[in-house]
Amino acid sequence: MQTIRQLDLLRTGIAELRAEGARIALVPTMGALHAGHMALIEAAKRPGTRVVASIFVNPKQFGPDEDLARYPRKEQADSRMLAAAGCDLLWMPPVEVMYPEGFATNISVSGVSDGLDGAARPGHFDGVATVVAKLLNQVRPDIAWFGEKDFQQLAVIRRMVADLDFGIEIAGIPTQREDDGLALSSRNVYLDEDERARAVALPRALGVAARAIGKGGDAETALAAARASLAAAGFELDYLTLVDAGTLAEGGDPARPRRLLAAARMGSTRLIDNVAVDPIEQG
Ligand code: PAF
Repeated sequence: MQTIRQLDLLRTGIAELRAEGARIALVPTMGALHAGHMALIEAAKRPGTRVVASIFVNPKQFGPDEDLARYPRKEQADSRMLAAAGCDLLWMPPVEVMYPEGFATNISVSGVSDGLDGAARPGHFDGVATVVAKLLNQVRPDIAWFGEKDFQQLAVIRRMVADLDFGIEIAGIPTQREDDGLALSSRNVYLDEDERARAVALPRALGVAARAIGKGGDAETALAAARASLAAAGFELDYLTLVDAGTLAEGGDPARPRRLLAAARMGSTRLIDNVAVDPIEQG
C-alpha cells in the first residue's frame, strides 16, 4: 500500500491506478480505525476496483469545546490495518495541505444539516461537507463509502453530491456493532469500564422503541420509555428523534422508512446511534 501526503503525488498515484483501467473507491476516515472502518474497506473491495482510504482529522468539523486535541491518533496501527485489509493507497494529507493559508471556502447544506447533530454541534456539518467535497475532488473516485452510524452525515453528503453534480456514487453500509450491540466508534475508547457497561443501554433503548413504533405502537409513548431507560443508565440525552429516513424531517410518514436517531452523553463521551423503523403497511 502506498502512503501519500502531498497532492501532486496523490494525482500521480490515482492516475497510475486509472491507467490500469481500475475503478476507484474512496473510504474517507479520521483514523483510529476499528472493525467498522474495516467493514467499509471490505465493502469497497470489488473486482476491478482499487481502494483508496483517507485519514484526516478534520479540524473544521470540531467545535471549540469539542475533542479535537484528544481525538485518538494511531497513524502506524491504522496504516498496518489498512495494508492488511488490502487497501491500495492511503491518502493522509497534513492540515496545511488540506487547508493552505488563505483557504476561505465553506460548504453548507441547508435542511438536512439543520436539526439533530447540526443543532447540537453548530458548524459541524459545514466542516464535514467541506472536507468531503475536498476529498472527493482530490481523489475523484467512482464511489465513496460511509457508515450508516453517522446517519445524518450520510444524508448531508448525499444531498451535497446530488446538488453539486459530483457524479460520484455514495454508498452506505449498516452500523457495525460490538457483540452486546454498542455501535463501533473511535470515541468508545474514552469510556471507562463502568461507562462502557452502561453504554449498551443506548442501542437497547433504540431497538425496543423502534420495534414498538414499527408495530404501530404510539411513538410518543415509545420515545418516553426510551428516554427513561437512558436516564436510568446514566445517559444525558442530547436528542432522541423519529425522522423520515430520506429527508430527516421529524415524525415522518409511518408508511415510509423512518429512522430513530439519538445522541447522548455518558460521562464526558458523546455517543450517537440510530436504528431503522419498519414502515407500517397501510390497509
Ligand atoms: O465520518 C468520519 O470519519 C468523518 O466525518 C469524515 C466523513 C471522514 C469527514 O471528516
